[in-house]
This record gives sequence, structure tokens and C-alpha cells, in this order.
Amino acid sequence: MSPLLVTRTLPEDATDAALRADVLRGLTVQPKWLPPKWFYDARGSELFEQITELPEYYPTRAEREILATRSGEIAAASGARTLIELGSGSSEKTRYLLEALAPSAYVPVDVSESALTQAGQALVEDHPDLEVHALIADFTAPLTLPATPGPRLLAFLGGTIGNLLPDERAKFLFSVRSLLAPGDGLLLGTDLVKDERVLVRAYDDAAGVTAAFNKNVLAVVDRELGADFDPDAFDHVALWDPEQEWIEMRLRSRVAQTVKVPALDLAVDFAAGEELRTEVSAKFRNDGVSAELAVAGLELTHWWTDAEGRFALSLSVVR
Ligand code: SAH
Ligand code: AVI
Repeated sequence: MSPLLVTRTLPEDATDAALRADVLRGLTVQPKWLPPKWFYDARGSELFEQITELPEYYPTRAEREILATRSGEIAAASGARTLIELGSGSSEKTRYLLEALAPSAYVPVDVSESALTQAGQALVEDHPDLEVHALIADFTAPLTLPATPGPRLLAFLGGTIGNLLPDERAKFLFSVRSLLAPGDGLLLGTDLVKDERVLVRAYDDAAGVTAAFNKNVLAVVDRELGADFDPDAFDHVALWDPEQEWIEMRLRSRVAQTVKVPALDLAVDFAAGEELRTEVSAKFRNDGVSAELAVAGLELTHWWTDAEGRFALSLSVVR
């Protein structure tokens, strides 16, 4: 069995500095906001896994259906010997790709060290010949990938691209394109625009797991920056923005309150009913995905959806 290699491409204190910068910026502007990458400490990653099993949260099941039925075609079209995956989380759905591609190397990239090491350990046990080189890294920052054999398939699954704002998405796709050489490919998972009720239910489940996931960002800021956010003083909000075609998750202050963030020497006032935006989750259409890829110099060559047309996987192979 090959050992699991784990590389941290961020200095130990980079996460802390980035969290401080994001909290300072996001809580001192109107409207207030925080970037979604801060959901994913060990508890947040665990809550996300619970979300993927909720009856209301269809994206994981829909994408798994596509991977279960199309991985052979994806492998044939890409011929990749290295699979790189951004925001890999539990790497559970990735197993279909690993079976079909039988690559020599798998490079999962995630900010969540707990998710990466758990997934990586399970994979090296189940695939003794596979080199698993995990990277603890922020995929919105420049990435240095390990030297592994080409061609390479870079997968970005789960619809996580929808958690980037449009300008962040454009920048991200450019940097992805710059990592790829002729013969390499991008496999992109995108959740599709659909009935508003289905979408809102997926982000406001009856069991309250998504509410706990949303509030987890407050627990992260409390723990890391000594803040005194009381998660019970906020309500989980999920709403559909038909103009932007995205779901927004917010935390609505139940009362007028002042939250202290000692590490930043900051006191943040919330009016009763004031909302803090914690995530956007954009939903896509075929023409939009194709256009955004084209702007970054990528040509969409394949488009697969689940039988109900809820979610799409697209492949762009670099010529
Ligand atoms: N791809 C998996 C997990 C999706 S959850 C699936 O489809 O089920 C989103 C994942 O992206 C989490 O594991 C989270 O830790 C990771 N993530 C979020 N923002 C990130 C960033 N900026 N850089 C690296 N990883 C990030
Ligand atoms: C990771 N990402 C694609 C999820 C989504 O659906 O936007 C995160 C999530 N937020 C709430 N539920 C799940």
C-alpha cells in the first residue's frame, strides 16, 4: 500500500490571517457577509456529509447517478493518468471515477484537513496501487500541483463552483485553465436552475441540518477569534434570487445585539432582523456554463445530466 502523502501549501498561520482578514472585511461592511469556505472545520465537514444524505438535498444523489452511469465515457474521453480534485471533501463520488480511470495518481485538494486525511486514508486502503497526494490548500489561491503523470483530469464536483461569486468564478476558471496542458481536461459539476420550491427546500431542510451547517461559521469565528456569537441568537435563512439565479444562505439576527471579536479588537452591531450573508449557491444552464468556460479558453465537449435533469457534469478537453 502506498503511504498517504499530505502537503500543506499554506503556511500554518495563513488560515488564521485569511480568516481575520475576511471577518474584518465582511463584518464591517453593509450588508455583512462571510465567505463560505469558513464553514468547513471538522464539524462543518461532518455536517456537510449529513446534508448530502438529506431527502431534500438532491445534488449529491443526482451527481452520483451521473458518475455511476457515465464514468466509463468520462474515462474514455479523458484518458487521464492523474485525477486532481478541488474541494474533494469525502471523495465518496470520486470512487466511480477512480474505478473507471484507474489512474496512477489522485490529488485531492481541500481546505478541510480532517476531510482530506479521512478520505485519503480510506482511499489508500482500498486502492493499494494508487498514489494519493493530498493538498491542504485554498483553490481560490494559486495552486502548485505535485509532479504526476499526464494527461490530467481536474474534477470540480458537487456544484461547488456555484459557491463562488461571478467575478471569483471567472478568475478561478482562468487559473484552472492555466494549470492544464493540451490533452488535459476539466470535469465540472453544476447544479441546474429548477423549481424554486425544490431549491429552497434543499437549503432549508426539515431536520435543521443545513441550519446547523450555516450557524457553524459562527462557531468557527468564536473558536478561532474568541468572538461571542451566540448561534441561537440567529435564524437560518435560505432564499432564491431569481435575477442572479442563486440561493442565498443568510443568518438573521433575532434581536439587536453587539458581538465582540477580541482578536480583531472589534465590536459588531447587529440590528434586530439584520442579515449576514454566508453563502451563495448559483444554479446554472447549459449556455451559461459553456459561455463561462469559453471566456476562460475552455471548450465544453460533453454535457451529461441525471435522468431528471437536475444536475449536470460537463467535460472540457484542452486541445
Ligand atoms: N466535492 C465534495 C464536497 C463538496 S463540499 C462533494 O461533491 O460532495 C465543498 C468542499 O470544498 C468542502 O470539502 C470544503 O472544505 C471545500 N472547500 C470550500 N472552499 C474551499 C476553498 N476555497 N479551497 C479549498 N477547498 C474548499
Ligand atoms: C458545497 N456546495 C456545493 C454546497 C451547495 O449546495 O452549495 C454547500 C451547501 N450549502 C448548503 N447546503 C449545502
